[in-house]
Amino acid sequence: MIILGIETSCDETSIGVIKNGSILSNIIYSQNMIHQPFGGIMPELASREHLKKILPSFQEALSKASISAEDIDAIGVTNSPGLKGSLIIGVSFAAGLAYSLKKPLYFINHLYGHIASNFIENIEFPCLGLVISGGHTSLFYIKNYIDFQLIGKTLDDACGEAFDKIARILKLPYPGGPNLEKIARKGNEKKINFPRPYLLKSLNFSFSGIKTAVFYYVKEHGLENSPDIAASFQKAITDTIIRKMSMALEKYPVRNFIFGGGVIQNQYLRDNIMKHFKTKNIKILFPEKNLCMDNGAMIGIYTHFLIKQNIPPCPYQIKVFPTKTI
Ligand code: KG4
Ligand code: ZN
Repeated sequence: MIILGIETSCDETSIGVIKNGSILSNIIYSQNMIHQPFGGIMPELASREHLKKILPSFQEALSKASISAEDIDAIGVTNSPGLKGSLIIGVSFAAGLAYSLKKPLYFINHLYGHIASNFIENIEFPCLGLVISGGHTSLFYIKNYIDFQLIGKTLDDACGEAFDKIARILKLPYPGGPNLEKIARKGNEKKINFPRPYLLKSLNFSFSGIKTAVFYYVKEHGLENSPDIAASFQKAITDTIIRKMSMALEKYPVRNFIFGGGVIQNQYLRDNIMKHFKTKNIKILFPEKNLCMDNGAMIGIYTHFLIKQNIPPCPYQIKVFPTKTI
């Protein structure tokens, strides 16, 4: 079974080809350079860029996978959450293609896709999954490949959003997360004790307090010791995530904990999570780094499991559920 996975929810245009659950190709066009001058994503520019790149992505994905359009058995596309205009480009393309090829069409939740990027490995269910991205911090109890229950989420800023905002305070270029990680390597993580928002009675997250603390620290002390600020901030975020993982594991004593989303590309975070859980009989799974960022393959993988569970396809229509902004 060959599945095309299409992803255009934010600032990456990506199409992947999945054959029997394995990745044949995964073409990703990142828009980082387009949004960099603005210090954040410009939604209208994102939509226009998706429009330019969607057809070349499709052609390259087929060619790299050495298949033709007629070989495709089903198409999965992200239709929620994300930027409205960006989602519409991917869904219109997918619905048109599926209709013309007379193949089934599946609408996929982007967050489930991030989790599914782990499903090329063996997973022991039930497990826990945490998506940490630019738009989301979402903790799931996962019963099987398609049955996810949301058990915790951010009450304010998403984890990646906090990285991006702190990077902006530190005057680092967009995208903030990777640039912050880079300067943090030269800093002392113990220099500044930023607050850890543990919210001990719930599995929800809150990152806006750390952001405010960094803001006032910089207002008072300036940017001279930016690497120390970056390293101390990164440690506060890492401690918070590890504490939340432990709380979730206490309530849901599973043996596998899987991750997804752009922030889990952060090597400091990966290393410290591994170190903390090394002796605790928990298997931690991080997707390969190119599967952490938004990509079409993860959407194709989730579609593969929907089909295996006999979930019926969606009508050929253009229906999107963007991220709510209020
Ligand atoms: O999953 P993703 O590609 O897009 C969304 O669905 O949001 O995640 C993008 C987020 C951005 O906030 C970016 O700054 C963050 O992931 N990110 C990182 C790193 N690489 C990307 N954050 C911290 N450290 C990194 N190395
Ligand atoms: Zn994402």
